[in-house]
Amino acid sequence: FDIAKWKPPVTVAVTGAAGAIGYSLLFKIASGEMLGPDQPVVLSLLDLPTSMDKVQGVMMELADCAFPLLHGMGGFSDARAAFEGVDYACLVGATPRGPGMERKDLLLKNAEIFAAQGKALNAGAPGAKVVVVGNPANTNCLIGMMNAPDMPRANWTAMTRLDQTRAEGLLAAKAGVSVNAVDRVVIWGNHSATQFPDISHATVGGKWAKEAIPDEWYKSTFIPEVAQRGAAIIKARGASSAASAAQAAVFHVRDWALGSRGKWASMGVISNGSYGIGEDLVYSVPVVCYPGEYRRVGGISIDPYAAQMMEATRKELIAERDAIKHLLPK
Ligand code: NAD
Ligand code: LMR
Repeated sequence: FDIAKWKPPVTVAVTGAAGAIGYSLLFKIASGEMLGPDQPVVLSLLDLPTSMDKVQGVMMELADCAFPLLHGMGGFSDARAAFEGVDYACLVGATPRGPGMERKDLLLKNAEIFAAQGKALNAGAPGAKVVVVGNPANTNCLIGMMNAPDMPRANWTAMTRLDQTRAEGLLAAKAGVSVNAVDRVVIWGNHSATQFPDISHATVGGKWAKEAIPDEWYKSTFIPEVAQRGAAIIKARGASSAASAAQAAVFHVRDWALGSRGKWASMGVISNGSYGIGEDLVYSVPVVCYPGEYRRVGGISIDPYAAQMMEATRKELIAERDAIKHLLPK
């Protein structure tokens, strides 16, 4: 009995399909890693008109893999056509930063992409679930969401999962345990150097991380290392993280689509006034996912240090939002 023959396929759009993250992400989706081993997929690959040869090449390789779950694919240079009727949209396509840049330096360059793609999703796929990966991811997500008035705001999310997996990896290594033994690390705020990777609620091998890990290491090593990891990768590789970003996108959508089985995940989602974050910011918070939805983790305690860190990243998001105000419809 092969259930893949019976479940109806879902369509996943990936933008920046000719880029470095796309080259890893598309193959993971087609293999079933994102939506499950019983879920056939149709891929919709969007990139710029100048990248269509590359998109064709990627589709040739996807075909050559003969993935049993890949039930169809198409390459597009027009967002409206690419997004028609899609169930999921991974918005990756945007310019990456280079050495010495902050992600917000990309804001004005990339912002227009997300205004146009928000409109295209609103018109062609108002029920789609969206993850924004292209930087600066939180504010790009806000732009897309605000340009898609018919879509539920909850359907727009920004990826901070890579920060979470970086934090989990670092914490597990410090504690000498496997990453499976780590839970409840939280990424608050912006996918940027101001993010707050918080271990106040984390457990490591069944113990409170705060009891197992020296506070000095947490504040002086762990937090800056997680927050600056993207820049360290760019320095080492000469290009921004790609395979790890694709893996994080898989984890983000997989949890959202299939559930996180009680584990906490961090996602940039529209703020609703909780935790003093205010409204109308895409701010990363802890969530627990159930198949097809996420719920914010509520009522967790915030100590004065955490409150100060959370406020710093909130202020940066407000400044980013101010810089692209002209792209937010009234
Ligand atoms: P890349 O330069 O290799 O690929 C980007 C692709 O996007 C290119 O093929 C380009 O032609 C395409 N593109 C540009 N404008 C487009 C548009 N309007 N529509 C469709 N496609 C378009 O870059 P990459 O390494 O794949 O990174 C993509 C983005 O993801 C960057 O902004 C990068 O900073 C970001 N990123 C985010 C995270 C995260 O954790 N949120 C992690 C890694 C990278
Ligand atoms: C990352 O975190 O690796 C990406 O956002 C790329 C970058 O610019 O750091």
